[in-house]
Amino acid sequence: MRYLDQTRLPDEEVWKETSDYREIARAISRLEVRGAPLIGITAAYGLALAAAAGEDVVRAAEELRATRPTAVNLPWALDRCLRATEGLSEPAEVKKRLVGEAIAIHEEDIAANHRIGEYGAALLDNDTQSILTHCNAGALATGGYGTALGVIRSAHLGACPRTVYVNETRPLLQGARLTAWELSRDHIPCVIIVDSAAGSYMRRGEIDAVITGADRITANGDVANKIGTYPLAVLARENDIPFYVAAPTSTIDLSLASGDEIPIEERSPTEVTSLRIVRIAPWARDVLAENRAFDVTPNKYVTAIITENGVARAPYQETIAALCKQEVPARG
Ligand code: MRU
Repeated sequence: MRYLDQTRLPDEEVWKETSDYREIARAISRLEVRGAPLIGITAAYGLALAAAAGEDVVRAAEELRATRPTAVNLPWALDRCLRATEGLSEPAEVKKRLVGEAIAIHEEDIAANHRIGEYGAALLDNDTQSILTHCNAGALATGGYGTALGVIRSAHLGACPRTVYVNETRPLLQGARLTAWELSRDHIPCVIIVDSAAGSYMRRGEIDAVITGADRITANGDVANKIGTYPLAVLARENDIPFYVAAPTSTIDLSLASGDEIPIEERSPTEVTSLRIVRIAPWARDVLAENRAFDVTPNKYVTAIITENGVARAPYQETIAALCKQEVPARG
């Protein structure tokens, strides 16, 4: 399979090719492919590669599952693929079923993004001239089109917003590197700001709405997303600005009651102390760094959650359940 190595963007568009699911697992761990829906889709294709190579698919699923803990789309896609092979013993049948399931997950995600875009754009009026987004929740992070950027794309077709403010998103700069790259290709004007500037822009009335994606949404509407999302939501509330979350229902985990239960990925401190290969912190034994990759925004700060099945608002316990067609897995 071919995938775009996102660590090389925006400088180079490097496409990699592999038939080894272990390479896919490494690509997910290294964030060569990233974004909640995309890692689910990629893992599904990875599982099909394992089957094509005659490898143990259950073991391959566990290796792929272990790559990143926070986005629920990853275990969701793998479990869906494994369920699709239940009762099959013929390897050729297993492979065929896994390829079909991966393609279905991919295509459904693209369709979901377009519907999220329509629902989201309908929420924004023409007074919404500027939108702030965080990280990258675009075509790069999904099967195509994007969730938060899908809303922005659809809204832009209807002539709003005029400007998209893009948080740079330290430490790996998904905003500055990836979101700005995507928007520029669509000729949607954007302004990159440092993450810590968001409050100043909101206070001065320069932001009309905030839209982010999500990595996992729990039954009560708490939202895990890229580190730095929670302070944005608090700042948005303080400044009377709507804070929207755009995500497919594959990002909703009804088996978790609240965001306190979401596993939060800790990544290497070197991602904080270096910008790519350039060290920016002192080399000293008593200078430490930590790299918590996601935070949880409590539901009380979320104005609405935009899914492909419609828009949920508080009380989320009820509205999310109504939008979800997924069954609640038994808790063990
Ligand atoms: O660590 P990343 O780059 O995979 O984090 C991605 C995000 O936090 C996105 O906002 C989220 O996955 C939604 S993508 C549609």
